[in-house]
Amino acid sequence: MSKSQVKPRKISATSTPQVISRHPASLLSVNDLSLDDVGSILRTASTLESEDALKRMKHLFKRRVSLLFYESSTRTRTSFELAAKQLGADTVLVSALSSSIEKGESLKDTGITLRALGAECIILRHPASGAPYLLSQVTGLPILNAGDGMHEHPSQALLDLRTILTHLHGPKAAPVSETTLKGVTITICGDIFHSRVARSNMLLLPRLGARVLLSGPQPLLPETAASAGPGIEIERDFDKALQQSQVVMMLRIQAERLAGLNLDLDEYKLRYQANTTRMAAQAGDALVLHPGPIIRGLEITSEVADGPQSAIAEQVRNGVAIRMALLVRALTSKSSSNAASKGKRK
Ligand code: CP
Repeated sequence: MSKSQVKPRKISATSTPQVISRHPASLLSVNDLSLDDVGSILRTASTLESEDALKRMKHLFKRRVSLLFYESSTRTRTSFELAAKQLGADTVLVSALSSSIEKGESLKDTGITLRALGAECIILRHPASGAPYLLSQVTGLPILNAGDGMHEHPSQALLDLRTILTHLHGPKAAPVSETTLKGVTITICGDIFHSRVARSNMLLLPRLGARVLLSGPQPLLPETAASAGPGIEIERDFDKALQQSQVVMMLRIQAERLAGLNLDLDEYKLRYQANTTRMAAQAGDALVLHPGPIIRGLEITSEVADGPQSAIAEQVRNGVAIRMALLVRALTSKSSSNAASKGKRK
């Protein structure tokens, strides 16, 4: 056949690049959730946590969950995996260093490949802010954001909320409303600028009525942070912030993201470290949280991290219950099966 006889290839509808609409049970930002959604997730977490282990396995028996991690993680990855397994799901972990991502495969192609292999939900951690939005659009699957760049870490904010509410209102899940945290001041201290945990908490906690104080030095806490939403203030004097707080959330100094910033770590410890002397003097009854990983001796001392005010281990445990609730929401909401099959048809 001569060149002129070659028929142009018919481009079928299935080969046209498409943007699939975002799955409604995805969790990309805390702003995706109404307060009713938040309350429902907290209640589901409590129900699932107390359920008989064999009964719990039936919720997502043999459903397929992919964990796609482009950044290292201990807590989030392990707790999502344990959560999925406790619900009976099959899990597969794809990490950047041991997959074709290392050879240059794009996020889009990786997502499409996982979907073709049967993934019904993808949990994504990625260094680029917004990556879960892209994955959501190209796969149509429910995507759970496990931390994207400096943007958000919504499941962390939900487990932090569960930890706070348990301490303030007891183990029974309190109803969630605009006044649930009225009169409660929560200080977030440290590397606010780089922290997706801080951002998700800053967006969520004031919606329940909390007053959020941000504390840290200028390079880690720009003035503009207070305009992230209502109910957020800056108090650079950590001692003053502690005096007003029922909860203090310490953040790790993210050394991997500090390049170019002028930060004197000795000065930082003097002004912002959570240590026993400071905590006893300023906030002896406050609940101490830290999303981890903690750098002992920098933002927090071992005495405080392991001391009676600390709820750090509790936060980690709450991660499993909250992530079970998010997986059930992602995989059993009415639109889940439609969106998944739509994606497969593409
Ligand atoms: N809190 C948190 O995201 O910890 P990991 O990085 O260990 O998942």
